[in-house]
Amino acid sequence: MTSFSNSSDSSIRDSFGSKLGIIAAAAGSAVGLGNIWRFPYVVGENGGGAFLLIYIGFVLLIGVPVMLAEFTIGRKAQLNAFGAFRKLAPKSLWFLIGVMGIIAAFTILSFYSTVSGWTLQYLLEASKTGFVGSTNESLQTDFNSFMANGWLPVFWQLLFMGLTAFVVYSGVKNGIEKYTKFLMPLLLIIIIVLGINSLLLPGGAKGLEFLFKPDFSKITMSVVLEALGQAFFSLSIGMGVLITYGSYIQKSDNLSNTAISVSLTDTLIAILAGVAIFPAVFAFNVNPGEGPGLVFITLPLVFEQMTGGYFFAILFFLLLAIAALTSTISVLEVVVAYLVEEKKMTRLKATIISASSISLVGVICTLSLGPLKNELILFGMSFFDLMDYVSANILLPFGGFLIVVFAGWVLGRNQLHNEISNNGVLKASLFNFFLFVVKYLAPIAIALVFINQLNLFDAL
Ligand code: PFF
Repeated sequence: MTSFSNSSDSSIRDSFGSKLGIIAAAAGSAVGLGNIWRFPYVVGENGGGAFLLIYIGFVLLIGVPVMLAEFTIGRKAQLNAFGAFRKLAPKSLWFLIGVMGIIAAFTILSFYSTVSGWTLQYLLEASKTGFVGSTNESLQTDFNSFMANGWLPVFWQLLFMGLTAFVVYSGVKNGIEKYTKFLMPLLLIIIIVLGINSLLLPGGAKGLEFLFKPDFSKITMSVVLEALGQAFFSLSIGMGVLITYGSYIQKSDNLSNTAISVSLTDTLIAILAGVAIFPAVFAFNVNPGEGPGLVFITLPLVFEQMTGGYFFAILFFLLLAIAALTSTISVLEVVVAYLVEEKKMTRLKATIISASSISLVGVICTLSLGPLKNELILFGMSFFDLMDYVSANILLPFGGFLIVVFAGWVLGRNQLHNEISNNGVLKASLFNFFLFVVKYLAPIAIALVFINQLNLFDAL
């Protein structure tokens, strides 16, 4: 059982035990369905290499500084995402960022746990049949009837939430750190094995061309902004996950290096996912433009035809499930840390209450793609799509915007410098650049994404 206590006294708070543990946990949050399921098809749809270049630019220029701002706020306050703002800016409304974070945890986890549940169904299917004898049509039908069934996807979703709750309940060091330290290296090995296998397939080079060859004619303002939005979602920025994790980082650790390592790992794994997927897709002449169905409809068809496909299919869906789990635990931790520290609940009670109330919203998400497909249309979208839309396109950019404004303008140069340099012990060489980004560049860029998304919203 964890030492995470009912008190916000920093001396008895649970924390990460090692540098590797922090990186595993934070990279575990960042690396998820956003990297392996979403990133490859978004790159494919938006000009391949040109999109990739812009995406990498955003990660380095904006993603790393915003991540560092979140870690700094969390570690300085030694509190959850809600309590941190109340402590650092008492008697102000900044704590509302924490409230938004808790709302975002509900919206993200509800649809994310639906897709996470699918990964378990496909893992089982892969190990039972290896998709042998499937065709494009049968895979499409199977996917549709699985969702239409309603209760089967709900079962997998609840099981996934149960796993998430178990890890979170076990604590920061004995749960989150322990499992991510084991799962993240496993994930890295699996994705490298899949990538090598894919590269060795005859005809796979066309897939690399699709992924890496820049086609600048596809780059429009909305593609640029799409790249920034993807970077935020993928890096887990904007809702307090990294503030919460930052509060468990020890005072002697180097925050800048942690932010850089986590962002680079996230980007590397997104690119490796593209390398594992596209050469295989092209080698077997299947459609790379399937969009969100790329992983659940197109890939099984690839595995069906591939030598050793049974083995690779299991590995792939195991990879997806692991990536999703290390992300869902980070989101649940935001709510649990809040309930424990602010509402003085035990960790057990906080986990049960948060996981079950999020699951309730999650079940509605899942059913909105099946039995409630025609009943639950809001703003022209299914409830599932609405939760996805609201979290990725509204809550995260808005939260990210407020977080950098808070760091740059409320905490300001001295407080940021003290925390990042560990009170002058570390050099913090790029500090001025960081300050420029959090004060000016990041708020402007995020405001642009946000405005762009709202325009899209109006158009619906
Ligand atoms: N970064 C995760 C992914 O790429 O799948 C998703 C995510 C986790 C988004 C946590 C936001 C968050 F706060």
